[in-house]
Amino acid sequence: MVERPYVLLSCGMSIDGYVDDVAAERLLLSNDADFDRVDAVRAGCDAILVGAATVRSDDPRLMVRSAARRDARTARGQRPTPIKVTVTSRCDLDPDARFFVLGDVEKLVYCAGAAVDAAQERLGDRATVIDGGDPVDLHRVTADLYARGVRRLMVEGGGTMNTQFLTAGLADELQLAVAPFFVGDSRAPRFVHDGDFPWGPQRRATLAEVRQIGDVVLLRYALSDRYDAGG
Ligand SMILES: NC(=O)c1ccc[n+]([C@@H]2O[C@H](COP(=O)([O-])OP(=O)(O)OC[C@H]3O[C@@H](n4cnc5c(N)ncnc54)[C@H](OP(=O)(O)O)[C@@H]3O)[C@@H](O)[C@H]2O)c1
Repeated sequence: MVERPYVLLSCGMSIDGYVDDVAAERLLLSNDADFDRVDAVRAGCDAILVGAATVRSDDPRLMVRSAARRDARTARGQRPTPIKVTVTSRCDLDPDARFFVLGDVEKLVYCAGAAVDAAQERLGDRATVIDGGDPVDLHRVTADLYARGVRRLMVEGGGTMNTQFLTAGLADELQLAVAPFFVGDSRAPRFVHDGDFPWGPQRRATLAEVRQIGDVVLLRYALSDRYDAGG
């Protein structure tokens, strides 16, 4: 069996299952306490992955915010913040995006084979470009991350990425934070797209934990027998 990291999907969504609205600015779904919880989860991972559309639309930092958590990572011999990873077929990515510019840590771009040369030219020394297949194959990505020392991978969206990890059976855990409001606009992106998911009415996922965090509820699902309750 090909070895791969423990894969944890983390997502915030509205009561009606949307992960954003249609406005240009990023929609904040969680509260401060939940953002701090997510920061702690990040600090416990070796790498954080988002899809290229999220890099373009949200311009996320994807860094550990708490100085104490960064110090604790350094004391353990790790970089202060996890490796950043994205996946793209065409590499329409801005080398000045916060994903590339912030954090003294490696940035990995898994790119479709046909676009690797152009991606390398575009990103220069801001990232390591890796041929991920055509289209990029997440089995190959996770195996390569494992070979690079990544043992715990956090996937922070968006919906295209979530859908592929779930339908490929590559997710060990899902952390869903449900915010107490509706988006109510079907043009907005959802947590996942259509797909053939391993969990349905005949095969229910295992709800491992429910935690109230102020006005947000955290649902943790164990999606494989590798589920790490203490993680
Ligand atoms: N609430 C939350 O927790 C949360 C978290 C993250 C994002 N979001 C929201 O999610 C939305 C973005 O989600 P999304 O579904 O549009 O996009 P996404 O999952 O962030 O990224 C999709 C992109 O990733 C690349 N990609 C994915 N799989 C690939 C494959 N197998 N091979 C090659 N390239 C691949 C493609 O990039 P190219 O187009 O470059 O080829 C594709 O367009 C935004 O509105 C964002 O705000 C919400």
